[in-house]
Amino acid sequence: RIAGPCGMVLFGVTGDLSRKKVMPAIYDLANRGLLPPGFSLVGFARRDWANQDFAKIVHDSVKQHARTEFREEVWKQLAEGFRFVPGNFDDDVAFANLARTLDELDVVRGTGGNHAFYLAIPPGFFGMVVDQLKEHDMVDKRPDAWRRVVIEKPFGHDLASAKELQKTLSEAFPTDSIFRIDHYLGKETVQNILALRFANEMFEPIWNANYVDHVQITMAEDIGIGGRAGYYDGIGAARDVIQNHLLQLLALVAMEEPISFDAPNLRAEKLKVLQSITLPRRLDLTTARGQYAEGWSGGVKVPGFLQEEAIRPRSTTETYAAIKLNIDNRRWAGVPFYLRTGKRLGRRVTEVAIVFKPAPHLPFSANATEELTHNALVIRVQPDEGITMRFGAKVPGTQMEIRDVNMDFAYGGSFVEASPEAYERLILDVLLGDPPLFPRHEEVEQSWRILDPILDYWQRKGHRPEQYASGGWGPESADAMLRRDGRVWRRP
Ligand code: BG6
Repeated sequence: RIAGPCGMVLFGVTGDLSRKKVMPAIYDLANRGLLPPGFSLVGFARRDWANQDFAKIVHDSVKQHARTEFREEVWKQLAEGFRFVPGNFDDDVAFANLARTLDELDVVRGTGGNHAFYLAIPPGFFGMVVDQLKEHDMVDKRPDAWRRVVIEKPFGHDLASAKELQKTLSEAFPTDSIFRIDHYLGKETVQNILALRFANEMFEPIWNANYVDHVQITMAEDIGIGGRAGYYDGIGAARDVIQNHLLQLLALVAMEEPISFDAPNLRAEKLKVLQSITLPRRLDLTTARGQYAEGWSGGVKVPGFLQEEAIRPRSTTETYAAIKLNIDNRRWAGVPFYLRTGKRLGRRVTEVAIVFKPAPHLPFSANATEELTHNALVIRVQPDEGITMRFGAKVPGTQMEIRDVNMDFAYGGSFVEASPEAYERLILDVLLGDPPLFPRHEEVEQSWRILDPILDYWQRKGHRPEQYASGGWGPESADAMLRRDGRVWRRP
């Protein structure tokens, strides 16, 4: 899978996303020989830069963040295709320059009219940029060429604004040219959920309400909000990651088997399961929300969220969120899905735990099974990539005593190939025009349909998030939420 002749225009070249993810991924793709020889990268920003200044920024980012080894010859060939166009998003002259630059690249680098526009900018500017691209004839597909637009979340702030955003995009680009990045779908361990479920016979028969007690999806981070106060304050944990990453994980875990993994079939199943999600009636008892207070992280004293630079002193933005969802279909009736995410928790870990019901009968003395808990299948998304099966086994000795043991599959133990970075995979898919790993607008709409009532509930009456100590496992209310159901969160 090697991309054909093409180029990419990157808006927002000075942002974190470009420097930490997009630029290094482009270099890594080039280094692996997956980009066409004439690939071009055009930076567009409000900076008074020449091409060389832009090349230097990319160089620094590659040196710092690329996964693969730095090779001078690869870099040189790639850098020959770098161009920079200075300008504001409302600057007609700049967009005319951009159009001219793309035409020129088609000739000198052979990009063939094929260009992806990567909007690594705040969503407030999407409309303006898209209008400019349209205005300057950059979105019209020549019959023999493609133009695609790539956007990152947040895909709106709620259902209404998500629809608005979709309207703006779809007025300029046809649906199949809009690529929404959810980088979790680019992760190997997330794609492996499909392999686990549908390439094997032993899991699917028990993957339902007859055997599954509940499902826990956890995305815990040990970092705080770092330098992202401007983005994060007012957004919060639910919009930042539940709306996208966690609901996408849920969809892959809970959906029916698609007819094939082609985009329309895969998305149809994801959409169907998202449409089946309902909220419990009492949001006060089935959601929890927190904000990290000061504490310790990796042996270092860290400030609380409200003390972070540039955070509003009375901000009610949550840095932790836990919610309970039901899926109203035959497979999952009565099986709650608990989703939680938080910053400054005890450890960085993302996992999906399928927790099974207890055996219907235990032909042992009560003492023998005192330490036995539920069987579980844990998909370890990161950082310790793999899968764990937890089940009971006899403790060696002269009496019958049964305790939980783990059986592990670790990527490192089975595969020599390192997993490519999610962005590499997704950017390559954009250039190839391969859409299965990109959520569709309908999925985005469903995610807001699910979240809007929760966000409204939290906002009403100035509901303040509960403080939790940095380095711990989140607010007490999240533990209470599971306790009420007779369950506990896993301690990864
Ligand atoms: C991003 C969120 O989408 O995912 C960040 O905006 C979060 O807040 C990040 O830190 C985590 O990504 P990963 O791949 O490190 O789990």
